[in-house]
Amino acid sequence: MEPRGRGRRSPSTPPGVVGYDQSGFDICHPKQPGTIVLKPPLLVKNREKRRSSCSSAKALSLRAGMVLLKGYLALSDQEKIVERCRELGVGDGGFYQPGYGEGSKMHLKMMCLGKNWDPDTSQYGDQRPFDGAKPPEIPPEFHNYVRNALRDSNAFFPDNSLPSISPDICIVNFYSQSGRLGLHQDKDESEDSLGRGLPVVSFSIGDSADFLYGDHRDVDKAHKLQLQSGDVLIFGGPSRHVFHGVTAIHPSTAPTLLLQHTNLRPGRLNLTFRQY
Ligand code: SIN
Ligand code: MN
Repeated sequence: MEPRGRGRRSPSTPPGVVGYDQSGFDICHPKQPGTIVLKPPLLVKNREKRRSSCSSAKALSLRAGMVLLKGYLALSDQEKIVERCRELGVGDGGFYQPGYGEGSKMHLKMMCLGKNWDPDTSQYGDQRPFDGAKPPEIPPEFHNYVRNALRDSNAFFPDNSLPSISPDICIVNFYSQSGRLGLHQDKDESEDSLGRGLPVVSFSIGDSADFLYGDHRDVDKAHKLQLQSGDVLIFGGPSRHVFHGVTAIHPSTAPTLLLQHTNLRPGRLNLTFRQY
């Protein structure tokens, strides 16, 4: 089934507002009755379970204030996150296609939870300007994942310790396999939040991505790493203004079990949590 309403604009959309598809997008393929799902071999199952279990998580300190928790989110939690995002994404205030320039058209869907972030004005608000929808609340279980990730990151790197946050913003992006996001800084939160270096906490689920980061908006000077399903990236403190972006999504790299259990479409789900 095609994403619902692709390319449609509701009659209430102001004529000047273009580039939005505001009618929801299902990040998962609907389950077809009678479809036979082939079970992956036990070897694959075990390898994926090992990769996605917290006990095998590795923590990397990338630079002051920037930590990568590899394989941090258990497969079962990744599945719960996909399912919640799916439900929220097809409802009011759900996924739409931002008009961040021609390049991203049809390759990136976005949904805001908690507060709305408007990519046209780079401002936060309580409603989406183009359809008046209020962003859904951040689900309580998402708060737990964020709290635990920050706690564990600080336990791994006490010298690189970051303040905890009580997130009131979660931006959810779904990248199709040709999705990209140019180098940018997250700098639209309050002066107080930015000044205190309150961290951004980012979850990656589905296909792997090439992620760039560095001190300049310059891809040639940036460091590159691969974010895989279950990874949690945290940047705050002296890295709160780090430039970052996504240059590639690697097809067919999502865990087989995740796809089997959720029917997630090809692509990558990313959630970034912040405190305004
Ligand atoms: C973002 O910077 O908003 C998203 C980064 C990512 O997709 O990993
Ligand atoms: Mn960002």
